[in-house]
Amino acid sequence: MLDPSRMPAHVACIMDGNGRWANERGLKRTAGHEQGEQALFDTVDAARELGIGWFTVYAFSTENWKRPPEEVKFLVNYSRVILDRRRQELHDRNIRIRVIGRRNWRVPRGVSKRIELAEELTRHNTGLTFTVAFNYGGRAEIVDAVRAIVAEGTAPGKIDERTIARHLYDPDMPDPDLLIRTSGEERISNFLLWQIAYSELVFSDTLWPDFGREPLIAAIAEYQARDRRFGKI
Ligand code: FPP
Repeated sequence: MLDPSRMPAHVACIMDGNGRWANERGLKRTAGHEQGEQALFDTVDAARELGIGWFTVYAFSTENWKRPPEEVKFLVNYSRVILDRRRQELHDRNIRIRVIGRRNWRVPRGVSKRIELAEELTRHNTGLTFTVAFNYGGRAEIVDAVRAIVAEGTAPGKIDERTIARHLYDPDMPDPDLLIRTSGEERISNFLLWQIAYSELVFSDTLWPDFGREPLIAAIAEYQARDRRFGKI
C-alpha cells in the first residue's frame, strides 16, 4: 500500500530493456520498442491516476545516434509517429507535454515540428506534466546552460547553482524525487545529471516492455521505505 502523503512529486524513468525483451522472443529489436510504447502510456496513465505531478522519460539520448543506422531511423521516425498518435489522447487527459534535449541539432524538421505541435496543444493543461527527453544528454544540457550564461555576459562571481538551474532545458521542472531504471542495469547513462543530485534511485529487474502500473507502484513503495536526508542527519 502506498502512503498518499509521501508520494513523489516527480518520477523520472530510464526505459531500458526493449531490445532484450524482443531478443528473448526471437523478435526484431523494433518490436521491443513498439511494446515499449504501450508500457510507456500505461505507466503515464498510472502516474496520472496516482496524482504524480511530473513524469519524465528518457526516449532518445545524444549517444543513441551511435546505434546501427536502421535502429536510429526507426527510433527517430517512431517518435514522430508516437507524437502524432498520442498527442490528442494526452491532451484529453489534461496532460501537459514537454520535450527536453537539443532541439536544433540532428533532429529532423518533421520531429521538431511534432514536438512544437504537442507542446503547443497541451501548454495550458493542468494535470500531469509528461516530459520526454529526446536527443537529450545530461552533460550536453549543462554545456548548453553554461553557453547561455556566458552569452548573457554574466560575471563569474554572479553564477551560483540557481543560475545553472534557471538555464537548464526546462527551468520549471522540479528535481526528480525518484529515478527508476528498468532491466536490471544500474547506471545513470547521462540522464538528468544536474537534477538527480538528491533523487532516490530504484533499479527494477522488469524489462521496459513489461513495465506499467504494478511495477511503478512497487518502485514508489521502495521509494517510500527510504529515509531521505538531503545531507542532513
Ligand atoms: C531502451 O531499450 C529503450 C530505448 C532506447 C527507446 C525507448 C523508446 C520508447 C519506448 C518510445 C518512446 C518514444 C517517445 C517519443 C515518447 P534498449 O533498446 O536499450 O534495450 P536493450 O538494453 O535491451 O538493448
